[in-house]
Amino acid sequence: MLILIFSSSRLAINVGQVVSMSASSATPYDRSTLLTGLTIGVFLTLSAPKLLRLLNLQPSENPRIKSHGKIAPEKDIRIGMEGLIGNTPLVKIKSLSEATGCEILAKAEFLNPGNSPKDRVALSIILEAEKNGLLRPSHSLHHRPTDNTDDHNAVSSHLRADNDSLEPITSGKVEDPDTIYEGTVGSTGISLAILARARGYRAHICMPDDQSPEKSNLLRALGAHVEQVRPASIVDKSQFVNRAYSRAEEHSADESRDSRGFFADQFENEANWCAHYDTTGPEIYSQSGGVVDAFVAGAGTGGTLSGCVKYLKPLLPDMKVFLADPPGSGLFNKVNYGVMFDEKEREGRRRRHQVDTVVEGIGINRITNNFRRGEEYVDKAIRVTDEEAVAMSRYLVEHDGLFLGSSSAVNCVAAVRAARELGEESGKVVVTILCDPGNRHLGKFWSDEYLKDYGIDVDDLDWSDLGFLDQK
Ligand SMILES: Cc1ncc(COP(=O)(O)O)c(C=O)c1O
Repeated sequence: MLILIFSSSRLAINVGQVVSMSASSATPYDRSTLLTGLTIGVFLTLSAPKLLRLLNLQPSENPRIKSHGKIAPEKDIRIGMEGLIGNTPLVKIKSLSEATGCEILAKAEFLNPGNSPKDRVALSIILEAEKNGLLRPSHSLHHRPTDNTDDHNAVSSHLRADNDSLEPITSGKVEDPDTIYEGTVGSTGISLAILARARGYRAHICMPDDQSPEKSNLLRALGAHVEQVRPASIVDKSQFVNRAYSRAEEHSADESRDSRGFFADQFENEANWCAHYDTTGPEIYSQSGGVVDAFVAGAGTGGTLSGCVKYLKPLLPDMKVFLADPPGSGLFNKVNYGVMFDEKEREGRRRRHQVDTVVEGIGINRITNNFRRGEEYVDKAIRVTDEEAVAMSRYLVEHDGLFLGSSSAVNCVAAVRAARELGEESGKVVVTILCDPGNRHLGKFWSDEYLKDYGIDVDDLDWSDLGFLDQK
């Protein structure tokens, strides 16, 4: 500061000198010149940062907001919706970090164009199907495959490729384009529906009829055909995944049609975990500066968890992996005790199939191919109650302005528990996933009336601090 004042004063004195010398024949450095110089110097020093900010010459505190004053043009144009997927920020959740004395970092996946990590998965599944001739794009962008021979390359090279490998193709209008069929509780369907539009397919989405209405409304707005079915066990033919599979089969078998049905199969399809192995995992490694002491995520298909930990664990062998599991999911007992079973399986206790919880998007009662891929790396499962998830979602809005969906809230509860296990005030780095935003759940998880009917009285929950996590 003193140096700044000194140099500003020198500058002002010199300016003053020139002015006064030209006006009179005063001697250099007389008393009044020195005083004026010093005053102007102090003023310049104190007001400089404000002036620079006003002139837009100083970098903003937010690195995403670029200063327009001095920036060199750097062409940065994404190609289509595909080009907007991935490279989401890793954000430090201030309240949870302060409360635990650890760094709680979260991958803001809700900032993908389809508002969830499923955008990555949908793109990976579609590009892989196109490469294998299972889908024929009728317009928009066509993938130009890159040479790559490593082991999971078959499903992944396109995701590592940059925008340039997505080149436009010109083809005539296709009367009956191929249709993508998928069984989903919503997010994957939305991502597939967006990319189906972008690449010239139809989308047919089968989903349980008790999911939040925002998702089915959005799917219809995107032009997808939505088939809602009663929640049922996976052994039931009418279960949403089985229904999507049989619809795709019926389509392909229909000889009167000049198109095919493609079953995306997110639960078993290798392109799912590979999308996270190729993109989400490396992004986390790079953005965290290669320091991750614990990774925490729930599993819907298991793709996010498996893809990320398969990438991160060889680079960070000491990293602990925690599965965040909602009520009704069998994974908690499978991971901790080796038995796939949930208490609510008992006769008469289950309120709904598949997983008995107010949380949407995570929790399963079977081992999917995508979960199996990363299962060996999971150290421990953390059970999160519906009440804890609801309280955490309200806490994060109140403290951080973070408005999140239910699975993100579950992840955050588990992230705090993981931080406590690593040691409060230890400064350890815990990374988790923020899957989708709260506005996709306004009708259920974010509706106090809905929750009351479900048996959760939001007025009874106290989320003023993290004390709600200690009530057991
Ligand atoms: C809302 C939501 N929750 C959770 C997940 C994690 O699911 P998965 O295990 O299928 O990767 C996702 C994945 O995209 C999601 O969109």
